[in-house]
This record gives sequence, structure tokens and C-alpha cells, in this order.
Amino acid sequence: MPIDQRQFAPATARNRDFILPILQRVLPESGTILEIGSGSGEHAVFFAQSLAGLNWQPSDTHAEALNSIRAWIEYAGATNVAMPLLLDVGASAWPLAHADALVCINVIHYSPLESTTALLTGAARVLPPGGVLYCYGPYRRGGRHTSPSNEEFDAWLKQRDPRFGVRDMETVEDEAAACGLRLEEVIAMPANNFSLVFRRN
Ligand SMILES: C[S@@+](CC[C@H](N)C(=O)[O-])C[C@H]1O[C@@H](n2cnc3c(N)ncnc32)[C@H](O)[C@@H]1O
Repeated sequence: MPIDQRQFAPATARNRDFILPILQRVLPESGTILEIGSGSGEHAVFFAQSLAGLNWQPSDTHAEALNSIRAWIEYAGATNVAMPLLLDVGASAWPLAHADALVCINVIHYSPLESTTALLTGAARVLPPGGVLYCYGPYRRGGRHTSPSNEEFDAWLKQRDPRFGVRDMETVEDEAAACGLRLEEVIAMPANNFSLVFRRN
């Protein structure tokens, strides 16, 4: 019997039902959605199955994640999810030259700040004018954490890798603006997270 390579990220089951209605509203009805940092792949199959008019393109930079995403796609029998791409946002060229929208969940705080810059630069390159970049995760606002639990989480992240950390929303907004991506909407989410909707000018 083949080894089951599916990974399980329990947070995906907790946040997906809150994220879905926002994606339903801000994503196009058809086209290719490139997901950055898909991780286990649980979001990819859930969102693809819930948004049947879209072609979902998961990606990640880690081999174990790619194996898990493949395993989830096979397990779920999802037909509108492509096999995952090896995509490091920092690469000078991404394996997909065009996407109708981008989705990036819980990556910005889980990677160095340079990766956020690379994500925004890459997004501006592959999105059409008016295309959406959706980001989800915790952020500081006005130089402060939005909750004690986020402050603890930030310390935990920095112990794991000093380059990781909960970012200032304003920093991400300014970096995005410099790339031609306007922060159009900020939506407070459960568990002290935010949905950020950027639109390419
Ligand atoms: C905390 S996990 C989130 C995974 C998934 N999106 C979720 O919400 O469960 C962060 C993910 O970002 C990916 N990642 C980190 N740095 C990256 C980079 N430079 N390019 C692409 N993906 C990256 C990691 O491999 C990991 O899968």
C-alpha cells in the first residue's frame, strides 16, 4: 500500500469557512487562481471544490508540501486543481507567467520579510490589471500587536526563525503600493487574523 503523504494543518479546517465567502466575493468567476505557499494542500482542494468555475493552481517551495498537496488532490478526486508547482516567491521567474488572481494564506509571517517583497513584486508581474491578490494572516496595526496571543505567536515565530514574524500591515501596504498593488480592503477575521485584498492598478 502506498504511504499516505497527506499532511494535516488543523488551522485550515478552522479558517476555511470564514475565508471562503470572501474568496467567493473577490475572486473572478472563472480563470486560474495561483495559490502561493499552499502547505498541506487542504485549502487548495477545499477552495477548488467550493469554487467550481475556477482552475486552482497550488504551489509551494518545499518538497514535503508538494507531496502532501498531490496526495490531497488524489484523495479528494478534485478535478479543477492542477498538480502543484514548485514555486519560491524569491525566484526571478515564477513557473506560471500569468494568473487571474493570487491567494496567499499564512505565508507572510512564516517567511522572511524579503519573501513578502518578492511575493508582491511577483504578484504585480503575473496579475492582469485589476487582478486580486488575497492574503490572510495576523498583522500588527499602528505599530502594535492586535492581541496578546499574536504577540506570543510573534515571539514563537522568531524563536523558530529570527527572520519570521508578524508584520506591520502598513509596511506590507506600502511595499504593495510601491509594486502597483493597492490595498483595497481589510477585513477583520476570527482569531485576530485579517484578510487583505490587494488589487493591481
Ligand atoms: C504556515 S505555512 C501555511 C500553509 C498554508 N497556506 C496554510 O494556510 O495552511 C507557510 C507556507 O509558506 C511556504 N513558504 C515559505 N516561504 C516560501 C517562499 N519563499 N515561497 C513560497 N512558499 C513559501 C512554506 O513552505 C509553507 O508551506
